[in-house]
Amino acid sequence: MLHVTDSGSGTPILWIHGFPLASSMFEPQLAIEGVRHLMPDLPGFGRSPFSPVETMDDYARAMLEVLDQRGIDRAVIAGFSMGGYIAFALARLAPERMRGLILIDTRETPDTDEARKGRYETIEKVQREGVQVVADSMLPKMLTASAPAEMRERVREIMMSSSKEGVIAALRAMAARPDSSSTRIGVPTLIVVGSEDPITPPADAERMARAIPNATLVNIDGAAHLSNYEQAEAFNAAVRTSDSVR
Ligand code: MLT
Repeated sequence: MLHVTDSGSGTPILWIHGFPLASSMFEPQLAIEGVRHLMPDLPGFGRSPFSPVETMDDYARAMLEVLDQRGIDRAVIAGFSMGGYIAFALARLAPERMRGLILIDTRETPDTDEARKGRYETIEKVQREGVQVVADSMLPKMLTASAPAEMRERVREIMMSSSKEGVIAALRAMAARPDSSSTRIGVPTLIVVGSEDPITPPADAERMARAIPNATLVNIDGAAHLSNYEQAEAFNAAVRTSDSVR
């Protein structure tokens, strides 16, 4: 059973975290009122035990179970980075469960051959040295250089709550993920990107905004990859006024 923060009432938003993070990356979004926040920890991340997952579809099915367990038919699906890859899988598996979509610092394209090779090298390093390998390499890309030290420390703490098995399974699943360019999205979509995101830069968000019908793009100044965390007020304002959360 996955650990899920379930808070508030109103339109349900299912927040799917990124890699190597946990649902606590969405702590600042709990300030958005008038909605029901569902924030699961993916298998092997945060407070969820590891259970075998191989593909983005496996993660998407686990997300659908979170809705099923609560009798929720349709939710706004908000996916950050790897969570966005999972949101695209969910859009293919069960489009009828989606009432809106929020894509946060993510992309629809699969890994390049070089990126895939990098994932397998990282798996070997994690096997040898543990999850701090990914925390060390990803932390400088998560936040801009001007982020406060306490914020940096908190993000590192969230990353270090990931288990080795969870991290390795996610790296394999991301390497194997399909191209989502032709995934049909039939719901209002908000696309958010940090203006200084070095992992999924604004060009990725602009491409998705051109391809997805009924999409709105919001660029968040002064943020790197973790735009919802580094510039929470601007991010939350974009969500509050978005058609995807009606
Ligand atoms: C994430 O934040 O989920 C990862 O950066 C995604 C990735 O490595 O492709």
